[in-house]
Amino acid sequence: MDDLKAKYLGQIAEAGDESALEAIRVAAVGKKGEVALKMRELGKMTPEERQVTGPALNALKDEINSALAAKKSALADAALDERLRTEWLDVTLPTRSRRQGSIHPISQATEELTAIFAELGFSVAEGPRIEDDWYNFDALNIPGHHPARAEMDTFYMHRAEGDDRPPHVLRTHTSPVQIRSMEKQGAPIRVICPGGVYRADYDQTHTPMFHQVEGLAIDKDISMANLKWVLEEFVKAFFEVDDVELRFRASHFPFTEPSAEVDIRCSWDNGQLKIGEGDDWMEILGSGMVHPKVIAAGGIDPEVYQGFAFGIGIDRLAMLKYGIPDLRAFFDSDLRWLRHYGFAALDMPNLHGGLSR
Ligand code: DAH
Repeated sequence: MDDLKAKYLGQIAEAGDESALEAIRVAAVGKKGEVALKMRELGKMTPEERQVTGPALNALKDEINSALAAKKSALADAALDERLRTEWLDVTLPTRSRRQGSIHPISQATEELTAIFAELGFSVAEGPRIEDDWYNFDALNIPGHHPARAEMDTFYMHRAEGDDRPPHVLRTHTSPVQIRSMEKQGAPIRVICPGGVYRADYDQTHTPMFHQVEGLAIDKDISMANLKWVLEEFVKAFFEVDDVELRFRASHFPFTEPSAEVDIRCSWDNGQLKIGEGDDWMEILGSGMVHPKVIAAGGIDPEVYQGFAFGIGIDRLAMLKYGIPDLRAFFDSDLRWLRHYGFAALDMPNLHGGLSR
């Protein structure tokens, strides 16, 4: 039995791939393998001999089986390492010119709205997508127990074992960039903050990652009237029409007081989404006068300064403008879809050339 053990454990250690391992398994512990043959001899033994040899054979079989399993997983690890070593991609290589890419409708919409807000005096600010709990919530007047935290279907990141600081989150909105911008620039300030945001939600008009643009204007004499005018100017310019019907609905956000949600008139006709006509409304943004606590959290004196803020869904805007009925298609990477809805790479939007020629 010692010979058998030495022989097979030796072979297993030497085995170079899974098929060699399988051959060893069959020869050693398979139905007709050497250990099975030895087991058959048990019948010819005296009861005393059997009592010793039986368990010893079983132990041998177990030992060979576990050596096989250990070697198998070591081989799999080695194969994976080898694959990772050989299969790599130089992402800095130039693309093939005959396969010209196109600009994604969301990038296009982002460029368009950036051009419009630039004309209105807003500069662009960016913030991290993995955000500190404080910036995403507390600084925006959403304390720990606030229901808005649950409503936002937040994705939380793991902290290391034993680290009991609040976890980082995938930012649920672009509003934390308001705080970062106020901290950085002080007042007066006029910024927009476009970028990706994350929430656990999925249907025709929701995806777990989507895009917003935050707007913030802080100065000494800003009112709701300024907010309304800016939003109306923006929507007219973006949709390239003289008249768009907007509906301002009183609403509630922890970071604004008063607050309003804005819907745009639209229709869904045979799965076609049309802007400006019909009996449906699509919510495109939330807005309001920035809460004094939020201004203070940004390091600005709310006794001296006030202002407005808004958060617009970029994907929603793109759906409406380009008549795209399903949000999920934006992120499917379907080449036919991209060719159909994409924009020529050199057609950068600007106001004098027309936004979306
Ligand atoms: N952060 C809000 C959301 O994601 C949108 C929003 C509402 C932003 C009102 C604002 C605002 O700046 O004033 O649902």
